[in-house]
Order: sequence, then C-alpha cells, then structure tokens
Amino acid sequence: MTTTADPFEKFKAAQREGWSSFVPVEIMTTPPAAKLVKFAAVSGGQRILDVACGTGVAAITAARAGANVSGLDLTPKLLERARENAAVAGVNVDFVEGDAEALPYPDRSFDVVLSQYGHMFAPRPAIAVKEMLRVLKPGGTIAFSTWPPEHFTGLLFALIARNMPPPPAGTEPPAAPPLWGDPNVIRERLGTAIKDLKFARDTLVIPALSLAHFRAAQEKTIGPLTKLIASLQHDPDKLKQLRAEFDALAADIFEENTIRMPFLMTRATKI
Ligand SMILES: C[S@@+](CC[C@H](N)C(=O)[O-])C[C@H]1O[C@@H](n2cnc3c(N)ncnc32)[C@H](O)[C@@H]1O
Repeated sequence: MTTTADPFEKFKAAQREGWSSFVPVEIMTTPPAAKLVKFAAVSGGQRILDVACGTGVAAITAARAGANVSGLDLTPKLLERARENAAVAGVNVDFVEGDAEALPYPDRSFDVVLSQYGHMFAPRPAIAVKEMLRVLKPGGTIAFSTWPPEHFTGLLFALIARNMPPPPAGTEPPAAPPLWGDPNVIRERLGTAIKDLKFARDTLVIPALSLAHFRAAQEKTIGPLTKLIASLQHDPDKLKQLRAEFDALAADIFEENTIRMPFLMTRATKI
C-alpha cells in the first residue's frame, strides 16, 4: 500500500495543539449535543461514530441512549477528558485519536455518523465528507451541527482567518469552516450520495457576566483564536483592533447575561 504525505500535516498539528484548551467549553456544547443526538434519531443498539468528538459530549449522549459508540478526535488532551467523562457517566465509548480526513474504520461500519461543530474544521471538506459517507451503512444517517457564516461564530472564524498570516505561496489554503453552515454548500457537498436532506436551526446559550468575560473565555479556549491572540502579543495596536472587532460582533448576541449563538443542524440518509 502506498501512502501519500498529507499536505495539511502542519496545519493539523497546529489544530491539535490549539484545540487542547477546549475542555472548559464542554459545559456549553453539552446541551446542543442532546439536540443533535435527537435530531439524528439515535436509538439503542445502533453503531454510532462521533467525528471530532472533543470531550465526547455527543458520543456519551448517544451511548446513554443505548447505542454502541465510537468517538474520534485529533486532540489527545480532549480524548483524555472524553474517557473520564464516559467513566463518570458509566458508559463505554471507544475513543480513538485520528483525523476526520482518514477515518480508521472499514466501509459501511456505522448506522449513524455524527459531528458537532467538528468535521467543519477538517481542511478539505470533500475528503472529510467522502470519509464520513464511506464508513456509513447504506440507509444510515449522517447528521451534524455547524456554525452558519452569517451568525456570530461563523463571523468570528472569518475574522480570525482575515488576521492570520496567509499560507505559504503555492500551498492549498484550508477551506473556511463556516461554509459548512450554508445549506446550499451542504447540499452541493453531500451531492448525490444522499437523500432526505433536512435542516433545523437552534441556538446555543452561554452565560456571560459581561462581554469582556465572554471574550476572555473565548480567547483562552477556542484554539484558533488563542493562537491568533498569542501571535499578536507584540503588536498591541492590531490586538486592540481585533478585540474591538470581536466585541462589535459579540454585542449583537449579548443580552441579559447570556450569549446566544445560532447554529444549523443537518441530517441526511445515505443512498
Ligand atoms: C469546536 S470543537 C468541538 C468538539 C465537540 N464535538 C463538542 O461539540 O464539544 C472542534 C473539535 O474538532 C477537532 N478537530 C479539528 N480538526 C479535526 C480533524 N481534522 N479530525 C478530527 N478532529 C478534528 C478538535 O480537536 C476539536 O475537538
């Protein structure tokens, strides 16, 4: 078997390091995990894969419903926490370190393939979706939650991308994650391999004592933002400008000590 080098190896190494501070955010991604598991109609006895599972919030929710669950993520630190979470919940989940673009499972292994705010960070959407559909059984369900480009989190990732140094000349840039939040793009990416495409919208709600509290927490826990902030430590003007732009975006979704982040859920059946 010949293996070709992954042109995004460095990018993925940076992602792995960046996302390792995500553990405290699990408290926020726990409620929408139940919404995704319900939307995907997970039931007891099914084989489920949670792609980019992080600390295992969706995987463990599915396991609590009686499913036989595997969870895969790039970031070992988050998998450590996922294993602790599964032990506390009293469920068995097979957590594995791996890449959404190279899933270590045979074809047609799972009844449901899920991803909550996860597969959207793989740099090559066509490869990630091909892998997710490959490991899904015919008649199985692919379901994911993503951040739409027109709402806060999508706009934040666009702001981060605008402020990052461009990739070296001649290299393919990673796809913009929030494009996975656009129904037209999703329809095109899933293509003719699926039927019964359905969308639903919901909102993730986060307590925040002030906009500054919210920004401080995001700077510490959202890997790509943490990296950008660190890279601007010697450029106070640019850092100030970035924070002002963050606050302007967040001001629109901050009310009565809560931040409200709209997201999109997608579900389809593999033909
Ligand atoms: C926003 S977090 C979401 C985590 C979890 N699904 C949740 O809802 O709490 C994004 C996750 O994507 C993972 N990730 C990023 N790129 C990945 C890739 N290429 N393959 C697998 N996981 C990846 C990160 O390690 C991180 O756990």
